[in-house]
Amino acid sequence: MFSRWNLSRNPFDPNPISLGTLDWFVGRKREVELCRNFMADRSVILVEGDLGVGTTSFGNVVRYHGPFRTTRMEIAVYRGWNSQTLLENVMVAILHDLLEDPETRKNQTVKAIRPLVQHVERSVHSAGISLVGFGGQVTRNVAVTQPGIIPTETLRQNLLALAEAFKTRSGGASFVLQLNNLDPSLTFTKAELITFLNDIRDNLQLPGFSWMLVGKRGLARFVTENVPRLRSIIAHDVILQPLSLSEVGNVVAKRITACTLSDRKGKNPIEQGLFQEIYEASGGSLRETFNICGKLCLTVAGDPLYQKITRKDAGALLAELLGVRFSGIESRPLQQEILKELSGNPGLSQQQLVERISKKQTSVSRAVRMLIDSGLVRQKKDGRLVRYWPSPEVHLAAEYL
Ligand SMILES: Nc1ncnc2c1ncn2[C@@H]1O[C@H](COP(=O)(O)OP(=O)(O)OP(=O)(O)O)[C@@H](O)[C@H]1O
Ligand SMILES: [Mg+2]
Repeated sequence: MFSRWNLSRNPFDPNPISLGTLDWFVGRKREVELCRNFMADRSVILVEGDLGVGTTSFGNVVRYHGPFRTTRMEIAVYRGWNSQTLLENVMVAILHDLLEDPETRKNQTVKAIRPLVQHVERSVHSAGISLVGFGGQVTRNVAVTQPGIIPTETLRQNLLALAEAFKTRSGGASFVLQLNNLDPSLTFTKAELITFLNDIRDNLQLPGFSWMLVGKRGLARFVTENVPRLRSIIAHDVILQPLSLSEVGNVVAKRITACTLSDRKGKNPIEQGLFQEIYEASGGSLRETFNICGKLCLTVAGDPLYQKITRKDAGALLAELLGVRFSGIESRPLQQEILKELSGNPGLSQQQLVERISKKQTSVSRAVRMLIDSGLVRQKKDGRLVRYWPSPEVHLAAEYL
């Protein structure tokens, strides 16, 4: 589908950077180096960033280099987890990699622990959840095993034995683990996250292990304010800012080169100015930018008229795609009016919106709610006010709605 641009696949694939795509990583040099030092020395660090700026990728890049081992599967925590579920998942993830490698699968400790992990697997399978399988298909995420099957103390003993068996010469961390999804609003409620972090705190000090705790913007402050016991063992905080425009230009150039089909140079399907505008409208979210760009490419893939997608093309194409997302046909004109108003004046409060649109407060607030539910409008708290912004797609499509 992308051969028109001499590309073998979608260069805007929004998956995090992982083992096979480490070369695609751009920027953040100093932070990566610093975190690698901490990870080699049995530490706990905390990484936070706004949605889609690259926190998962950053963690992956840090842990895939260094004198330690790490897991290939992503460990994303889920609601309802506690120490026991965490350690079970960690053990499954570690054993999975050790058993895949012909060198390490013969290790005595690995052999001894294998039945225990198989036991976890069987119990989870019998509960009807399909997950990681030894020799079977590998899913990207580690499983949720609930309620816990193996006692926490047994898990701790076995993890210690593994750390001992794969001890590094420097005496630093044998394993580096990355916990994703630590979000006080998306994955957990505030109270649940406090309970979870307090519960796992002592296990994060297990000899032989380093941990990266990864979450959305505000995680560092959340821990300071609500989980002082955890704060006292965190060695370093990383707050990731969006990449600069020139760095993002480099990100795209690398991807186009990596996806080029033949010896002729691959072409970027998206005009440079358009790409930058999408990136800025998304507030520096690479994930969202790639999603929109990928969507635009796929929309025109069958139409030879489009060589380079321009700003004008994007506006019209996105307006067409957005049309289907309006909910409640009867209030569609009002919803469209609100979107136009917000695109011209992003950040209006509800009161300001009502003043500009001569409709009743209740109708406006109902229409705004519908727009938020369909992802076309976003809200942010600003002191006592709530302010509204158009989604990046709406911003681009505004003139055509
Ligand atoms: N430093 C970087 N260099 C190049 N590409 C990057 C970089 N950081 C992230 N990306 C790319 O940006 C996209 C989003 O990255 P990632 O999934 O790591 O973000 P995230 O912050 O974890 O997102 P989410 O908030 O959705 O969890 C991915 O396609 C990834 O490959
Ligand atoms: Mg992520």
